[in-house]
Amino acid sequence: MSNPASAQTANGEAPKLVKGLEGVLALETELSFIDGQEGVLLYRGYEISDLAKNASFEEVAYLLWNGEMPKQSQLDELNRQFREERPVHPDIIDHLRHHTPNDAVPMSALRTVISMLGLYDEEAEDDSPEANMRKSIRLTAKLPTLVAAFDRVRKGLQPVAPKQEGSIAFDFLYMLNGEEPGPAAEEIMDAALVLHAEHGLNASTFTARVIGSTLSDIYSSVTGAMGALKGPLHGGANIKVMEMLLELDASGEDASAYIERKLAAGERIMGMGHRVYKTIDPRATILHGMLEGLSDEKGERKWLEMSDTIANAVTEAKGLNANVDFFSASVYYLLGIERDLYTPIFAVSRMTGWTAHLLEQWEENRLIRPRAGYIGPRDKTVKPIGER
Ligand code: MLT
Repeated sequence: MSNPASAQTANGEAPKLVKGLEGVLALETELSFIDGQEGVLLYRGYEISDLAKNASFEEVAYLLWNGEMPKQSQLDELNRQFREERPVHPDIIDHLRHHTPNDAVPMSALRTVISMLGLYDEEAEDDSPEANMRKSIRLTAKLPTLVAAFDRVRKGLQPVAPKQEGSIAFDFLYMLNGEEPGPAAEEIMDAALVLHAEHGLNASTFTARVIGSTLSDIYSSVTGAMGALKGPLHGGANIKVMEMLLELDASGEDASAYIERKLAAGERIMGMGHRVYKTIDPRATILHGMLEGLSDEKGERKWLEMSDTIANAVTEAKGLNANVDFFSASVYYLLGIERDLYTPIFAVSRMTGWTAHLLEQWEENRLIRPRAGYIGPRDKTVKPIGER
């Protein structure tokens, strides 16, 4: 039984228990606004659909970090820094090559090398705002290189050094495949990065801010965020969605019958439903449009059709709507990206949101330290070990 007296606030009041912190406002942010009833998402006042159509990932990164869309000269300078920062220290590539099992879960391998980046950064412990901004750029520039290097070395291939040209989306696809992407693939990857960049106080961002609020460093904070994003109830969901679609495809079963069976068995359908959105996630609507275009271009509509059947059935049966992970899975699949890299790609994008939140946290830091209501016994005494 809960004992309110065990969790009094400093002024003696019993705090209210809110499981999963659902609906709790833990802090204020200028970074993004979500209206979960209406399906609205703004980054610093800009509609997500406007940004996805009219802004590059680099412009969005600048916007999140600086609060304004960049002028051309500011964007040129940021792009210069991003390109300069793409290579990673050879010791870290060696770690991926020689000290990481080939069958490691990518998010675990990447969580480890993100942490290692801090060991090779002379500015790691410099907590000035200027150094933290440089480290935000550095982390965003280097994570795509790490994702691509891990994917290649686990396949026994040579890592491809960044070209240090073009956009993050361009160089990432180049390093992954060893050949320059076409404009369509680059555009889709760029838009996917824009869509995943920021989303309020989601679990991984909260993790980053909790760690940052102890005045720990940026590398520790984003390493924790990587761990939180990995979970299937967060960024790991896009992998689970694709596994479901592949399972359905391999079974040859009718999609309606398949989903009816899953729902009857009480199974959770990943990528459907969201803690904040009570209507369709606006990012899912944009990704659905991207999936339609890509399906037509590739002449491969089955993933779109299966996804639509499943999403409609789940919405009808449970009132749950598609979230960002539902259609991104098929988009990445049609781009030919390995399934277990979907969450790392989410991380490549969210690195901008995590670091923007950390910069914001440190502007006016307050240790994030909620309370737990104690529900255990209170009347125990230690017996000699032989009598226990
Ligand atoms: C996200 O973008 O982080 C996910 O939609 C999860 C969330 O917001 O809780």
